[in-house]
Amino acid sequence: MKIENIIPYDLVIFGAKGDLSCRKLIPALYRLELQNLLHINTRIIGVGRADWNNNHYSSIVLQALKKFHSDSIDINIWNTFKNKLYFYNLDVTKIDNFIHLKYTLNQSKNTKIYYFAVPPNKFNNICEGLGKIQYNTQPNRIIVEKPIGVSLKSSQIINKQLNKYFHENQIFRIDHYLGKETILNLLTLRFANPIFHNIWNNTAIKYVKITVSETIGIENRWAYFDSIGQTKDMVQNHLLQILSLITMSVPKKLDAYHIRKQKIEVLKSLRKIDSKNIYTHTLRGQYSSGMINGNIVPSYIEENGAKKDSDMETFVLIKANIDNTTWSGVPFFLKTGKRMHTKKTEIVIYLKNIPNSIFMNHINNNYANKLRIILEPNEGIEIEFLNKKPDINNKYILKKSKLNFQYSDITKDKIADAYERLLFESMKNDQSLFVSKEEIETSWEWIDSIIHAWKTNKIKIQLYPSGTKGLYFSKKN
Ligand SMILES: NC(=O)c1ccc[n+]([C@@H]2O[C@H](COP(=O)([O-])OP(=O)(O)OC[C@H]3O[C@@H](n4cnc5c(N)ncnc54)[C@H](OP(=O)(O)O)[C@@H]3O)[C@@H](O)[C@H]2O)c1
Repeated sequence: MKIENIIPYDLVIFGAKGDLSCRKLIPALYRLELQNLLHINTRIIGVGRADWNNNHYSSIVLQALKKFHSDSIDINIWNTFKNKLYFYNLDVTKIDNFIHLKYTLNQSKNTKIYYFAVPPNKFNNICEGLGKIQYNTQPNRIIVEKPIGVSLKSSQIINKQLNKYFHENQIFRIDHYLGKETILNLLTLRFANPIFHNIWNNTAIKYVKITVSETIGIENRWAYFDSIGQTKDMVQNHLLQILSLITMSVPKKLDAYHIRKQKIEVLKSLRKIDSKNIYTHTLRGQYSSGMINGNIVPSYIEENGAKKDSDMETFVLIKANIDNTTWSGVPFFLKTGKRMHTKKTEIVIYLKNIPNSIFMNHINNNYANKLRIILEPNEGIEIEFLNKKPDINNKYILKKSKLNFQYSDITKDKIADAYERLLFESMKNDQSLFVSKEEIETSWEWIDSIIHAWKTNKIKIQLYPSGTKGLYFSKKN
């Protein structure tokens, strides 16, 4: 965006003292400042339960930057940034007190962007408060964080509360995976390159694996995590978002309406997993003790504050099928877990081998071609293919080779962080990288059926040692 097109906003962060705000939002806003993408008259208004003045808030923000911004702080940029910071003391459950916030908001005619960095049970309070002071009107908008519910029913309740005060075009639901460069690049990769576009279907693709693995355990979030589990925490949002982006049909336009429309089509075509196919289509695991990076780590039920009889999953593997013409017969393996052998996020696409290939004996049941799209740790793309090994004695000894592309090859600049991009997109009022109500609710419906089948079929948790790749389906599946 051209600098002259940047307009000022009031970015109001509810939950300004919290972890999300300090760890992600403040560094992201500072990086926007570094790139001159915040208008001089933009205000960042932290809202929280503290008797702080603007100066005190500035010192908190500086501390957060020192801790969470990866480079040193530029003093000139900081001085400009600091001038944008305001703090407002408010308990959002005290609706009458929003009238005082109104005075602060009235001090500028800027469009307001409200960031809900608070627990979801406070969303309704904020909506009501903003409604009361009539600051919920267009073009003001809100950004809300996951989790939007823990089931279809609870997500519908939250969405209804939001919709009572805000129109859908004012609601920006964040899934930070959608702000990652490699995720955005999926559309370019698929729809700008014939080399990929023409093979992107069930005639060429055998199966796809989407993996989000972490080496960390539950840290100090045991009680929260144990009420949610890996499937609700990771699959309902991040993995299903990735799945819908890699399988959606080409949108008519690259705008929010058309992209979301195609993603919803995919989510609606997901084959239901219920009591009939739960055994063959899902595996749920929990980490036992093991070794990570040479250190012994405890099992899930030995973590601080753990209940010894918890059977919550910290790992899940789901075989998803999309019942449409393009993807019929192609399984999508969605795998995510904690305390695994490595931290990575990737999509691997396995291509069918050439039928009756003259090289069949050389391949030995392996896949000749694999496309790996790496989101973490080093964003890039890798193509695996077969080559003849240079050898004067043997004409055809085949060898696997890789074409490797990393973002660092094409830019020296730091790739934008997901929150930095998403905050900027919300300022541009572009919802294409945000999740619609229908996407959220359709995803929950699919997840609810899995969780329900686990309960009714009394599917037991399987243990996997920390530091391993988790669980695998048996070959029969
Ligand atoms: N942290 C992350 O990286 C992350 C990532 C994705 C999603 N999220 C989601 O983002 C939300 C915030 O997460 P978080 O990790 O930042 O949680 P957190 O550290 O507990 O922060 C929550 C903030 O909300 C404030 N708050 C709670 N009740 C309030 C009230 N009645 N009035 C005013 N402020 C109130 C808290 O203020 P006090 O300090 O006064 O209690 C605190 O500053 C959660 O929904 C979480 O699931 C977080």
